[in-house]
Amino acid sequence: MDRTEAQARIASLRTVIARHDELYYRRAQPEITDFEYDRLKRELAEIESRMPELAGGESPTDQVGDDRTEGFATYRHRERMMSLDNTYSEAELREFHNRLVRLLGRDDLTYVVEPKIDGLAVSLTYEKGKFTRAVTRGNGVEGDDITANALTIRSIPKTLKHTSGAPIPAVIEIRGEIYLTLAEFKRINQQREEAGEVLYANPRNLAAGTIKQLDPREVAQRKLEIVLYGLGYCEPMTGLPGSQHDYHQLLKDWGLPGQERLWKTVGPDQTWKAVQELDQVRSSFAYATDGAVVKLDSIGLQREAGATSKAPRWAMAYKFAPERAETRLNAITIQVGRTGVLTPVAELEPVRLAGTTVARATLHNRDEIGRKDIRVGDFVYVEKAGEIIPAVIGVNTARRTPECVPYVFPSTCPACGTPVVQLEGEVAVRCPNDECPVKVRRRVTHFASKACVDIDGLGVAMVDALVEKGWVKSVADLYRLRRENLLTLGKNVAKSMDNLLAGIEASKQAELWRFVHGLGIPHVGAAAAKDLAQKFGTLEALAEAKYEDFIADKRSVIEGIGETMALAILDHFNNPKNRALVQELISLGVKPTVPVKREATSAALAGKTFVLTGTLPALSRDEATAMIEGAGGKVSGSVSKKTHYVLAGEEAGSKLEKAKSLGVPVIDEAEFRRMVGQSG
Ligand code: IVH
Repeated sequence: MDRTEAQARIASLRTVIARHDELYYRRAQPEITDFEYDRLKRELAEIESRMPELAGGESPTDQVGDDRTEGFATYRHRERMMSLDNTYSEAELREFHNRLVRLLGRDDLTYVVEPKIDGLAVSLTYEKGKFTRAVTRGNGVEGDDITANALTIRSIPKTLKHTSGAPIPAVIEIRGEIYLTLAEFKRINQQREEAGEVLYANPRNLAAGTIKQLDPREVAQRKLEIVLYGLGYCEPMTGLPGSQHDYHQLLKDWGLPGQERLWKTVGPDQTWKAVQELDQVRSSFAYATDGAVVKLDSIGLQREAGATSKAPRWAMAYKFAPERAETRLNAITIQVGRTGVLTPVAELEPVRLAGTTVARATLHNRDEIGRKDIRVGDFVYVEKAGEIIPAVIGVNTARRTPECVPYVFPSTCPACGTPVVQLEGEVAVRCPNDECPVKVRRRVTHFASKACVDIDGLGVAMVDALVEKGWVKSVADLYRLRRENLLTLGKNVAKSMDNLLAGIEASKQAELWRFVHGLGIPHVGAAAAKDLAQKFGTLEALAEAKYEDFIADKRSVIEGIGETMALAILDHFNNPKNRALVQELISLGVKPTVPVKREATSAALAGKTFVLTGTLPALSRDEATAMIEGAGGKVSGSVSKKTHYVLAGEEAGSKLEKAKSLGVPVIDEAEFRRMVGQSG
């Protein structure tokens, strides 16, 4: 490769890698496997090191990626969060050891081999043993403050257990990985499949997408987990263990969830054996692993070895190469999603791959097919890696025959024939027709589902039939269905059709939030729908809502409804068709109910805002919260002039100070129990 070629290749690789970084870190929707990504990065690093004079300017080879997204406050890590060097080769892993031997001048090196969890990096801060903050890695220097979302992860202890000999530091940052169990991943994808939504390719993407949800209640619906494996900043440093292995023990003693398995090894042979053993057993772990992390055990030697600008010299990730198979691409079919996105799917000659038979694989989008020049009839490589849904990685062009002609992506929607559009800045190609039968089907299925107005007897097959007949073009049409038409759907269907009609009739009086959720407004989940229902009381009022009803003085008016959601709601009802739908539903007899708030057990608490601080003698934070909410009160996280009471226990900190300075009444547990009507 000459200079000009190298220069061009560097520029092109940097652009491509930057795009995949964005897709992986910020959007949690990668289009290539980690293996392909690592290959691109390695190629770039090689050219850059061969021709350092061309390597000027910013390069992804010396950055750690950046996961910061809009909607979160950024927080500066007290100590940088590093990345890891990685390899797929045994020889390079051995070279890692040899390098350390040369660097440290000794060859009796002991390591800890840990599972490399395929999740997303996070740093938890504990101050005086109390959990205070969770921050994503971000760009390594500062990340997104995801504390509210992390509070939904039950395995994060709110206070560190003080059972071991080691003292609890004044401030400590603990590093780890947030993940979704494989079981939870399956459950969510199954639900999405039923709702006709796009599936997540792997648990990592789903976990990353979840932690960046703006509504913590939505996060709570998906049970995220965490593993902690390292220390960041710590103050004071006294009393800390001298080895990585003992760190793990200490974290466990403090009550933090740890790794499924660890190996302590001496020298490269034992280390390699442990890595292979991990590969054998990892399928039994609750989390997805994509490799092994080998860390020098001695903290003293770790310090001596130091770090480069992005990764420590004392650790190395060995990644397991994904399994891959070669098979014939028989056809490309197009799926249309609820929002109209056209997704190309590879119909494959069935082939065994990583324990299952694969007959279909995603092709992601139009551009991907073009970039990889994938043609029907080609022999293609399919990979599963950490992915659960297989992907087509590339083509074996040596086996290409002249009949394989370039694929022409449809220019019209396969379901309704409307010319497709590609919005600027998006890779997705969409069908813009709101009446497209596929979109209608998905909207109606969502509306009728258990999570929305819950119409008995209206499953996917029934919706398909109703849409196909042309009787249902919008959710309002459900309320126009006629018995005599339904009876023509088959023989002996009278009973089931009567049930269906009864279900539809009953749904007219479903709770308001169910309708709000059923409208399918982007970002509005069930929890937000409940708040909106409480606040607005009718569908018409919600449809007429103004920006100021959601955001005033740059702050949320309704707790839990932020700007992103507010804009989505306004945008939805800006569309005259969506406003008309509300009117139509009402004229068809829909009468959503708004449950009267449960009679407060204590008038003293109803409508009052409480802030909890410190440790109460007998009540846990959750118990106190439940009592307050059960009596019609609210619990807020910070003290302001609007706070009615601060319920303070022992070691109450700055919130107590603030309450005093604002003149907010401070009560203790005994006083609180009197208010709720409990004595003692
Ligand atoms: S140690 C300074 N240990 O892999 C060392 N990282 O590819 C920093 N990861 O950013 C990381 N499992 O998010 C370490 N057992 C493990 C890990 C692990 C997963 C992630 C972590 C890191 C990334 C680097």
